[in-house]
Amino acid sequence: MNLFDVYPLNNIEIVKAAGSTVWDAEGQEYLDLYGGHAVISIGHTHPHYVKRVTDQLNKVGFYSNSVKIPLQVELAEKLGKVSGKPDYQLFLCNSGAEANENALKLASFYNGRKKVIAFKGAFHGRTSLAVSATDNPKIIAPVNETDNIVFLPHNDEAALEQAFASFGNEVTAVIIEGIQGVGGIKEASVPFLQKIRSLCDQYNALYIADSVQCGYGRTGKFYSHDEAGVDADVYTMAKGMGNGFPVAGISISPKFKPWHGMLGTTFGGNHLACAAALAVLEIMDQDQLMKNAAEIGTYLITELKKIEGVTEVRGRGLMIGIELPESLSNVKKDLLFKHHIFTGEAKPNVIRLLPALNLTKDQADQFLNQFKIALNQR
Ligand SMILES: Cc1ncc(COP(=O)(O)O)c(C=O)c1O
Repeated sequence: MNLFDVYPLNNIEIVKAAGSTVWDAEGQEYLDLYGGHAVISIGHTHPHYVKRVTDQLNKVGFYSNSVKIPLQVELAEKLGKVSGKPDYQLFLCNSGAEANENALKLASFYNGRKKVIAFKGAFHGRTSLAVSATDNPKIIAPVNETDNIVFLPHNDEAALEQAFASFGNEVTAVIIEGIQGVGGIKEASVPFLQKIRSLCDQYNALYIADSVQCGYGRTGKFYSHDEAGVDADVYTMAKGMGNGFPVAGISISPKFKPWHGMLGTTFGGNHLACAAALAVLEIMDQDQLMKNAAEIGTYLITELKKIEGVTEVRGRGLMIGIELPESLSNVKKDLLFKHHIFTGEAKPNVIRLLPALNLTKDQADQFLNQFKIALNQR
């Protein structure tokens, strides 16, 4: 049996990892500033994480949501506290797309409506409704095409007001990333997020904050949307939540009343997933990783902005986009194969940095030095 060939692969096999360092099968060391799509939040193979997951595996790895799982309650309490929303409710699932899918369903259950407002450049995942709300026709299969999603220009308050004025009573939810990731590290402006909040209140629509990539402390705030000082009705999260263990969730405002069977999943919230997620929050708390993300992120952004030849530097904390001119389109590949640094990309020519939240200043400096060399070699 062959693999279904959907991924363009780099010819590298990672066999060992620790913190923000990974090693390939030839023993070559790399600095990991990508964490495999923003997933590694507390660093690879963190000893506390490895121990907590291993200990749990030796007790019980999985049982379904037909029995009490006290680890879920522990996780909800800890997450409520760390995220600053102790009165919200937690539903656990397995991936970012599933989190958004459930958030959109929940909104529609709540107000009985069908129309979703999403934005140009958005990425919300690949399941049915999440992909329909994703601004990339190439990955939307005919069966996922729907008139229920309306795409508006990003950060355009007038267009949003106009949309609500013309069909606001049909809108179930507005879904938005605090900072677009796949779209190229583009921040939602504070006034725009505030406008979403006030229009949703006015029209009884729901504000869904997709925090799958920009959340979980990456920007220095637990949810990057909180920069705007207003609460969303639902926050979706995944990626950094399990530091590599597939676990996701939605944090749901108290205004939603659950009923049995409303949402559900086989794997979501299993013992191992909860142990992984708890280990992440414990380290984030103990080592003040959100503070570190803010500090190292600010340092990196400040230094990157000084570098000649860079078109623009965007982002907050450790979610950084470096836009380069077309003439420097090979820099990302050079960083990986010549300088042994993993970074991400966004079209057309943006380097994305999404490292672990405990990246050190030395590692940041290592990147800055190598990046300057890579630019000058082009
Ligand atoms: C903002 C955002 N939402 C949702 C998703 C989908 O997450 P997953 O791949 O875990 O389904 C992603 C993945 O990149 C994302 O960046």
